[in-house]
Amino acid sequence: MKKSVDGLNLVIPDNVYDPAEDSFLLAENVTVQPNHKVLEVGSGSGYVSLYLAQKFPLAEYFCLDVNFSAAITTHQNALRNKMNLHVYSSNIFTAMLSRDNFKQFFDIVIFNSPYLPYADEGMLEKAWSGGRDGLEVIIPFMENLSKVLKSTGVVYLVVSTKTNLSKLIELFNSNNYLYKLLDKVSEGKEEIILYQLTMQ
Ligand SMILES: C[S@@+](CC[C@H](N)C(=O)[O-])C[C@H]1O[C@@H](n2cnc3c(N)ncnc32)[C@H](O)[C@@H]1O
Repeated sequence: MKKSVDGLNLVIPDNVYDPAEDSFLLAENVTVQPNHKVLEVGSGSGYVSLYLAQKFPLAEYFCLDVNFSAAITTHQNALRNKMNLHVYSSNIFTAMLSRDNFKQFFDIVIFNSPYLPYADEGMLEKAWSGGRDGLEVIIPFMENLSKVLKSTGVVYLVVSTKTNLSKLIELFNSNNYLYKLLDKVSEGKEEIILYQLTMQ
């Protein structure tokens, strides 16, 4: 599918997440300073990072996705819009953890996570399916974040009221992050929630 969103020309195959309310909530709330290194986990079409790169062009952007088609799509959409993103095909931070130069490298990490408590196995389904409690991807994300995030870094994480939020808060606390509910948007009976995290 071809579409134009916020001045970006995107081509999004059927097996890649089409930007939706959760993507827009994230994109609109992130602030980036010049020279910041920004990592988007699960970049899908690349929409969020491209939106940020358009708005804050003096930063450097890195994207990863476990879905190889999504990683390719992010790369192709960057080329299509004449922007430069570094793209990796990676299960959470695996591609970063194998290289020393990404050790506590990022000023900002953003993740519109697969937060719904369903267990679907296909590659497109991985875009929303967070397994038990909606936390199966968020748990390893939180446990490994401090390996790639600067101690002064900021994290933006999208979840929903369908995610097990009390377990999520425990996860923030047990991994030593301070959290703030930054913004939210209603989506039918569900609310999509954006948390901002910093290290304690
Ligand atoms: C809700 S979609 C968000 C896509 C895009 N960031 C956006 O906001 O439009 C979640 C993305 O996370 C990716 N993803 C799921 N599990 C992952 C994992 N373990 N490691 C990396 N990416 C993952 C999915 O393939 C999907 O592209």
